[in-house]
Amino acid sequence: MHIGKSPAGADGKHETGNRCRGGLLRGACRMTARLHKLWRDSSYNACSNRSVTAMPDEDLLAAALRRILPAARLEEVALPATPAVRLLLLQGDYPRDALSPDTVQRVMDNPLYWIFCWASGQVLARFLLERPDWVRGKRVLDFGCGSGVVAIAAARAGASEVIACDIDPLALAATRTNAGRSGVKLELVDDFFGVEGHIDLIIVADVLYDRANFAWLERFVARADQVLIADSRVKDFDCPPYRQIARHSSCTLPDLDESAEFRDVRIYLAD
Ligand SMILES: C[S@@+](CC[C@H](N)C(=O)[O-])C[C@H]1O[C@@H](n2cnc3c(N)ncnc32)[C@H](O)[C@@H]1O
Repeated sequence: MHIGKSPAGADGKHETGNRCRGGLLRGACRMTARLHKLWRDSSYNACSNRSVTAMPDEDLLAAALRRILPAARLEEVALPATPAVRLLLLQGDYPRDALSPDTVQRVMDNPLYWIFCWASGQVLARFLLERPDWVRGKRVLDFGCGSGVVAIAAARAGASEVIACDIDPLALAATRTNAGRSGVKLELVDDFFGVEGHIDLIIVADVLYDRANFAWLERFVARADQVLIADSRVKDFDCPPYRQIARHSSCTLPDLDESAEFRDVRIYLAD
């Protein structure tokens, strides 16, 4: 397999994508250590089949959000295009213009991806629900599940098993509560390499904002029969065998007022 020149190379294209998220994602590299500390502090283990939950997922998530945005709350939202998918997200009317510099810095240092449902995730979720043949009867892995939006859609569309994978334990907690709210069961893992057995399809939405994640493109192809990637950040994605198969517009929920450019989501297939 050949993976072409990374669009995240010297041209810095997807760093532009980071800037266009209002800085919410710039702390991505520092995120892991902080989240693992939260994991330890809360005595919480996100792996579903051996969970030791000190508090219910929604309380854990609300507490994590309060630490970063004290005045914010979570609310359950039925996604407009796929209302069967119900997610706990940042309240839609959160007053973003009132953030103090300290709060902005905290948000940047601790990006809580799971409080948003990203445009790419919504597009890929809708794509699977409208075309269930992509997942029906298949064993599917959602890489970088965040709120769990795409994993939940795959399960609702008839996948035989869905594994939701994220390095962020809070994302796994969000995915678990969101799966329950959406009436599906998922397996949760924090280690892609710990997953055993055949994988039919890997689904990925909005993880290419981090240049380090381009290294995963080749691993996905080596691991599964098919890979579907949805992305709105990288505009010159040229990574054979990945090829564009669909293009739709959407917007992150709650709306981050991103430019039209970042609402333009493309779906790529490798098989
Ligand atoms: C922008 S969010 C997208 C979430 C969801 N797929 C969606 O579209 O709404 C990116 C997610 O990928 C996760 N992520 C980033 N790099 C990862 C990695 N190397 N392995 C697993 N998860 C990763 C982050 O923790 C975060 O939850």
